[in-house]
Amino acid sequence: AVPGSAVPDSAVPGAAASDRRVPSPRRYLVCEPRYFAVRYAINPWMRPDRPVDVLRALDQWQALVDAYRDRGHTVERVAPLPALPDMVFAANAAAVVGGRVLGSLFRAPERRPESLPYAAWFKARGYDVRPAESVCEGEGDLVPAGRWILAGTGFRTAPEAHREAQEFFGVPVIGLTLVDPYFYHLDTALFVLDDENVCYYPEAFTPGSREVLARLYPDAVTATRADALAFGLNSVCDGRHVFLAAGARALAGRLAERGYVPVPVDLSEFHKAGGGIKCCTQEIRS
Ligand code: ARG
Repeated sequence: AVPGSAVPDSAVPGAAASDRRVPSPRRYLVCEPRYFAVRYAINPWMRPDRPVDVLRALDQWQALVDAYRDRGHTVERVAPLPALPDMVFAANAAAVVGGRVLGSLFRAPERRPESLPYAAWFKARGYDVRPAESVCEGEGDLVPAGRWILAGTGFRTAPEAHREAQEFFGVPVIGLTLVDPYFYHLDTALFVLDDENVCYYPEAFTPGSREVLARLYPDAVTATRADALAFGLNSVCDGRHVFLAAGARALAGRLAERGYVPVPVDLSEFHKAGGGIKCCTQEIRS
């Protein structure tokens, strides 16, 4: 910015759009993939006959944690349990907004027990945890976006849970319906850039939900199917850096044009379970 000037950055010749993208420090909860595996199939990505390389998964996951820490974010860990191969997908176990924790009720019986260790983690740190009464998969489908929460339904989280979330958090909840089984959680089709904007793959939504997104975010960054299939929408943004699937190359270019700084991270082992960067990351919003 020009000191003492009322002229916005964008109007200053030579000022890069990226000067306007200011990161804010975040607190992330993650779970080490020590027991990560694909033992059942609850989304079209999962093939129990295809092996997962746990050592490779551990390396990829550590690179994500390092990328967060290198940019100044706090990373906390919940201990993994051997019987819960999907527990690494921390985003699904709860949604935390304004220090209130809504615990998940998973749709698949295989994942139901994951809610417990996560609720225990929060309780041990002084949080009250309110368990969801309807099927609710945490931040997988409840995506806080500034003044409201965007909430997915269609495959996992029930619309009744959207109402529960609105009542519990006291924040308006905007329901969006997903239609493509490859993008079964809202966080596989959309991520938040900042309080005013999002990035998403329009074809993952019903026509009505697409219209809602276009009204709310006329300036959104949209992604192609190739970007979406590369888990490019399963990203984490701190307002400046976008921790983004390494394979989402076109999207990285579009984000850079808009002044964001893509930080490519390869979580390809986790794609075998239908998860990526955001799935592995629960944001704790105080
Ligand atoms: N195998 C897990 C499931 O199908 C992957 C969860 C991915 N998490 C996410 N936030 N999209 O439930």
